[in-house]
Amino acid sequence: MLIGTIVYSRTGATLDFADRIAQKLRERGHAVELTVLKTDGQVRPPRPKDFRLVNVPDCEKYDAVLIGGPVWGFTAAAPVIACIQSLKGVAGKKLLPFVTMGFPLEAMGGTRAIEAMKQAAQGVGAIVMPGMIVPRLFRRQSRLKDIAAQRISEWFVD
Ligand SMILES: Cc1cc2nc3c(=O)[nH]c(=O)nc-3n(C[C@H](O)[C@H](O)[C@H](O)COP(=O)(O)O)c2cc1C
Repeated sequence: MLIGTIVYSRTGATLDFADRIAQKLRERGHAVELTVLKTDGQVRPPRPKDFRLVNVPDCEKYDAVLIGGPVWGFTAAAPVIACIQSLKGVAGKKLLPFVTMGFPLEAMGGTRAIEAMKQAAQGVGAIVMPGMIVPRLFRRQSRLKDIAAQRISEWFVD
């Protein structure tokens, strides 16, 4: 499969997760195209208003799409939601949302972020897959990312 992976990341944590997911998918024989979302304007978390996404990929060419970003203010970062809402070519395709977060419990924003991303994805006609949340459990985030990346790769079989 050709899997489009789109990530928004301010401090690199979600980008690091996306890289690990891409690596696991490639090990399974998939082709992965990674897009790191860029914005125009001032993105002031947690509730940025005036920004524009400058490099949302056309998803027509992908067989499936993964999209991820950080949890901000107990929900998904606004650029991620805006990106999903603007996606073209995802109708009828699998879309998997993923997030990283700073707190240790998924209930501290992760669950709500994934729900918001799923709702946006349904709005553009995607087939929404289970979301993946990586919290920060003391120093274990690296290990949790590897476990989550492995699980995601197992959900994609040709
Ligand atoms: C403004 C702001 C709000 C945040 N709100 C939350 C939150 O509600 N829950 C949480 O677990 N982490 C929160 N975080 C932490 C980030 O989700 C976490 O550091 C994430 O891994 C950063 O990802 P990135 O490096 O890809 O930007 C917040 C961070 C910022 C900057």
